[in-house]
Amino acid sequence: MSAPVLVTEKLVAGYGEASVLAGISLKIEEGRTLALLGRNGTGKTTFVNTLAGVTTYHSGSILLMGRDVTKLRADRRAAAGIGWVPQERNIFKSLTVEENMTAIARPGVWTLERVYAMFPRLKERRKNLGNQLSGGEQQMLAVGRALMVNPKLLLLDEPTEGLAPIIVDELLAAIQRITQGEGMSAIIIEQKARKVLPLSDDAVILDRGAIVYQGTSADLLANDDILGKHLTVEKGTPH
Ligand SMILES: Nc1ncnc2c1ncn2[C@@H]1O[C@H](COP(=O)(O)OP(=O)(O)OP(=O)(O)O)[C@@H](O)[C@H]1O
Ligand SMILES: [Mg+2]
Repeated sequence: MSAPVLVTEKLVAGYGEASVLAGISLKIEEGRTLALLGRNGTGKTTFVNTLAGVTTYHSGSILLMGRDVTKLRADRRAAAGIGWVPQERNIFKSLTVEENMTAIARPGVWTLERVYAMFPRLKERRKNLGNQLSGGEQQMLAVGRALMVNPKLLLLDEPTEGLAPIIVDELLAAIQRITQGEGMSAIIIEQKARKVLPLSDDAVILDRGAIVYQGTSADLLANDDILGKHLTVEKGTPH
């Protein structure tokens, strides 16, 4: 059996001397999607940013496909197979959609054609500049650009934040085709637990930089007590 895509062991990191992550140990097997949940300020972004290599490392380890990447610089982590869509999206506003996608592309199964097939809106907008896109289109571009790096593990930090409900559903459907359809391993941070649990395999809830729940997404979806205790569960959403 191949090594898990990701293993973190007692990972402690933060900003300068301050530790935010209080020792995170988790594992993602190849092809699985992890929903990373928790209220505001619990360390979700800090965890994913630590995997991407842009926080202050304190202790513990990060193995990617069995390779120790703990001390690698951020650009080397991308080359090692970490595809990161940060919370603030960070697309190149003065480049076109197509230039955004080819700027940092690496060879592999994800090509321009395949990303356009996944996101037909991006193909329609391929000559538009990043700053001419709607919020939803910018997010699709951020995901498409991360796929073009042909990562082993895709990190999506609140991909649906601030988007209209119809765009949220469109984007989540595309993410499901990328993960469950195409077998991409991923971590998805999402406020809307009931939206992301059906399209993920496993779930972790953080509180104060520590894991307070770890289990399958199906179990968590059926556990109203835990959902209510640790998450801001959106009201009126059917199960
Ligand atoms: N650049 C930074 N410098 C110092 N402290 C930070 C920085 N970014 C975040 N923090 C602190 O780290 C803690 C965790 O923040 P983080 O952004 O990881 O939370 P989060 O779970 O992603 O929250 P949200 O749901 O609001 O995005 C918070 O206490 C926050 O104030
Ligand atoms: Mg965050």
